[in-house]
Amino acid sequence: MRTAYCGTLNHTYIDQKVTLCGWVHRYRNLGSLIFIDMRDREGIVQVFFSPDYPQTFCVAGELRNEFCIQVIGNVCIRTEKNKNRSMPTGDIEVCATNLSIITRSESVPLDFSKNNNEDIRLKYRYLDLRRPEMANRLKARSRITSIVRQFMEKSGFLDIETPVLTKLTPEGARNYLVPSRCHIGKFYSLPQSPQLFKQLLMISGVDRYYQIAKCFRDEDLRSDRQPEFTQIDVETSFMSAQEVMALMESLVHTLWQKIKSVSLHNFPVMTFAESRRRYGSDKPDLRNPMELIDIADCIKKMEFLGFSKPLNNATDRITALRVPGGAGLTRKQIECYIKFCKNYGLNGISWIKIYHRSTGLSGISSPLIKHLNEEIIGKLLDRTTAIDGDIIFLAADLEDAVTNALGALRIKIGNELKINNNSAWEPLWIVDFPMFTVDEQGDLTPMHHPFTAPQLMSIDQLRKEPETAIANAYDMVINGHEVCGGSVRINEWIMQKTVFDLLGISQDEQNQKFGFLLEALKFGAPPHAGLAFGLDRLVMLLTDSDNIRDVIAFPKTTSAICPVTDAPYTVNPLLLMELGMKT
Ligand code: AMO
Repeated sequence: MRTAYCGTLNHTYIDQKVTLCGWVHRYRNLGSLIFIDMRDREGIVQVFFSPDYPQTFCVAGELRNEFCIQVIGNVCIRTEKNKNRSMPTGDIEVCATNLSIITRSESVPLDFSKNNNEDIRLKYRYLDLRRPEMANRLKARSRITSIVRQFMEKSGFLDIETPVLTKLTPEGARNYLVPSRCHIGKFYSLPQSPQLFKQLLMISGVDRYYQIAKCFRDEDLRSDRQPEFTQIDVETSFMSAQEVMALMESLVHTLWQKIKSVSLHNFPVMTFAESRRRYGSDKPDLRNPMELIDIADCIKKMEFLGFSKPLNNATDRITALRVPGGAGLTRKQIECYIKFCKNYGLNGISWIKIYHRSTGLSGISSPLIKHLNEEIIGKLLDRTTAIDGDIIFLAADLEDAVTNALGALRIKIGNELKINNNSAWEPLWIVDFPMFTVDEQGDLTPMHHPFTAPQLMSIDQLRKEPETAIANAYDMVINGHEVCGGSVRINEWIMQKTVFDLLGISQDEQNQKFGFLLEALKFGAPPHAGLAFGLDRLVMLLTDSDNIRDVIAFPKTTSAICPVTDAPYTVNPLLLMELGMKT
């Protein structure tokens, strides 16, 4: 039906006859001439209708926005004064000779020229996706997956699909369950990731597997989390953690080069402990120059209970966050930041504003002023490298409260005071995660998943001191987003069983949930390692979006609803009966 896309027309088409198919983006009837902006997937071009073609001109008078049309016409150069520099096709226009209205449109509930409310955009997503900005995101996503596939295939990976109706895959969230009609009372689980199947594929000898896989997690949603999302899932045999990391880093270099024409620097590698200590997070945004700086030794002589008590407590932390240019913050702003920190359990927080560093105590202002002296203030300013015009937040409390609160404050202030270098790309690897987190009852939870191997630790050592075990795991972080996580896997059944034992999974439960894995590990399992990228997060970064919903054609809302179809929905009780269920 068409010979060219509207958005691809340019000088090379001048004087050519073209047939275009698309939608009326904008309609202007000047009486003696009718102009439309005509839109298709590739962009917009101006079409004009003149009374020289009376029949066509008459039909054009019926056009309205979003009518679906076919136009036949000649491509002409616009006069210098009519060129539109803000439009990629703005040098040319199409003089229509024929027009067919394919289908008419009612007036649409979205105004394409404005920022529409997201609820409306999501409900009428098929219309929202007509907007060039959204169409470009879909195209970018398609291009990104195509580059990933080319890279993986060139690197010897096989694309293999794994089941979607399956059994529990513990990745830290709740599973979505699907009732079985043939086995009343039993359920399938939708995969949180293809983790166990890709490990089985390594035992099969596949050697290098990848899949662009749908994953399902019933968890609280955020701006970079969806209940249904897509992973670039990867597994390799006979490759070390470093080899996997190097290969996947080069995939990311390729993507940034091809999509953004950006050469990323080599990714620094930082331990989990260092990242938490310096940035209060295991996914630090290194575009933000602020760091958490420990100051316990600087304030040893300070007589203020809020700060001197934590000095003697090994589970506490005393830390400063210097905010460049922050001396201009008002009391009200400071109060807001302090309240924000309290949400993270941090109660011991105060601040010092530096006006004239060279004049010592008299050049600063702080609620702590009467507890400070020249020596303490000198040490604090040296340690934090504070200069005139800065503010330093001081925090003293339980280690986790200080680290989490100042980590979050660092991000908040970085964004609000525009301290981040937003034009930069700051990727890095985080490694050496603890194997387990330990709760107040002493129960262990895996920090990645329970199939991750410990680093250099015997089974005996692991049984004795599991809380000291370091996982052979790695996450890639770009501009504060965890874009991928992976690890070297356990490939000996006895080590896998030990980890299950440590997690308090009973023998029965081990057999019932993971019996197939434990058995498979007894048949010559190769050393294997892998990772998974969150494809949606990569696309977000590569299309400069900060909202995961913008890069998914039909996303769920933050309350996990599909506004187009209204899923989840109430099921007919008869249907439930067939499944042996009732609500
Ligand atoms: P993990 O759970 O770290 O690891 O997930 C891998 C990557 O998937 C992305 N991701 C998400 N993206 C959008 N919405 C979500 N709800 C969501 N959850 C995770 C993140 C994350 O880094 N099987 C392991 C991987 C492995 O060990 O090979 C796994 O799934 O970008």
